[in-house]
Amino acid sequence: MSIKQPLSTDEIMEDEIKARQRQRDDVLTRVLEDHADIKRRFNAISTADSVEQKRDALHALIHKLVVHETAEQEILHPLTRSADGGDNIADDRLEEERAAEQLLARLEKLDVEDPNFDQLITELRTDVIEHAEAEEDKEFPRIEQFVSADKLDALSSLFRAAEATAPTRPHPHGPTSAKGNLALGPMVAIADRARDAIRQARNQQR
Ligand SMILES: [Fe+2]
Ligand SMILES: [Fe+2]
Repeated sequence: MSIKQPLSTDEIMEDEIKARQRQRDDVLTRVLEDHADIKRRFNAISTADSVEQKRDALHALIHKLVVHETAEQEILHPLTRSADGGDNIADDRLEEERAAEQLLARLEKLDVEDPNFDQLITELRTDVIEHAEAEEDKEFPRIEQFVSADKLDALSSLFRAAEATAPTRPHPHGPTSAKGNLALGPMVAIADRARDAIRQARNQQR
């Protein structure tokens, strides 16, 4: 399905319903809410009315995905590893995240009007959704079985701290945007800031 076709409301609500059904305000709920949010950000690209809007939507999606995957690598996957047999499951998720990162890095360099843009972003959307489902289906049950509810509650604020890192906005008339490229700071910088925010929040909990 091409990016020109937005995801259905049902598809987005799926994660929100799962989040509500958990009836907990813990780190797994944060991840589910994020998965819904990521789908919404893909839809913002599908439904953008102008090239400018599409660029902004891409910018917001890249920021969100980098922060989300960084937070999972710092917080979620280590929980999976702490569970019996969790290492392989976490390794597989990490591999999917690395592959998505490669796609993101290619997208970051493309303009939304590039002839390859739609195909690449469609590929990314398919991969990211499959990856999110694998986290929910394979990691969550392990984590719920092996990690205490109190710990999952406490980790929620670390996830929120990462999410609170503000996106770097491209300068509207900057030289890069004049060329039609996305003037986004390197993805590495976004990940670094998210990791710093998590570290600080962790120190405050101690
Ligand atoms: Fe992930
Ligand atoms: Fe995720």
